[in-house]
Amino acid sequence: MLTRDRWGLNERAFAWYYPRLMAVSERSGGAELRSRVIGRAAGRTLELGAGNGYNLPHYTAAVTELVVTEPSPAMLAQLERTVRATPPAVGSWRAMAADAERLPFPDASFDTVTSGYVQCSVGDPARMVDEIARVLRPGGRYLFIEHVRADEGSLLGRVQDVIEPVHVYVAAGCHPNRRTEELLRSSSLEVEWLEHARLPMAPVSVRPLLLGSARKGLDGR
Ligand SMILES: C[S@@+](CC[C@H](N)C(=O)[O-])C[C@H]1O[C@@H](n2cnc3c(N)ncnc32)[C@H](O)[C@@H]1O
Repeated sequence: MLTRDRWGLNERAFAWYYPRLMAVSERSGGAELRSRVIGRAAGRTLELGAGNGYNLPHYTAAVTELVVTEPSPAMLAQLERTVRATPPAVGSWRAMAADAERLPFPDASFDTVTSGYVQCSVGDPARMVDEIARVLRPGGRYLFIEHVRADEGSLLGRVQDVIEPVHVYVAAGCHPNRRTEELLRSSSLEVEWLEHARLPMAPVSVRPLLLGSARKGLDGR
């Protein structure tokens, strides 16, 4: 499946239209959903695939150090502008390029890892979850808000499956039908809070949401 065309046109187009499209959803309740998840971040915190930075206003002073990461150069440029213009209310922060499937950080180096609508866009979500588990300290938390495949047997789930190849191209790698709950439940992390919701004022293909937190065991496994 083609995620990025040879000129990177779809990636640049996505970096242009995504913030504009999401702005409507953010104003219609999307920001509150983010706040319920991201507001729980504490200690040394890593955000994956931060995009243009819609999670940034939701971090609190409980975050001592925030590392916001993003692999797409077009998105990273926007993220750097956002973070400089309106710095998050945290102890300290830095923005840098990083791929969630190959994190350039040592084992057990973060108290919290966050992601917003990123599991859909990585090449191998299982690898992303393994990397999250690796960089979290024992007892550390992964906080997520992700759009997912609709329920098994639903019409929307079937539609998401059918449109997946076009969706992946138009939305620069975004699969509308990821089974993120199953992935997390079968991972080494322990799911401690999970909620289903709807992304307000968004294309129907990305409306079913999963938000919650998963914890790394105190024994470090
Ligand atoms: C739908 S956007 C979400 C942006 C932002 N997190 C938000 O909450 O609005 C998906 C983001 O995932 C990023 N992404 C794609 N592949 C990735 C990877 N392998 N590792 C980390 N981020 C990735 C994209 O560049 C894009 O910024």
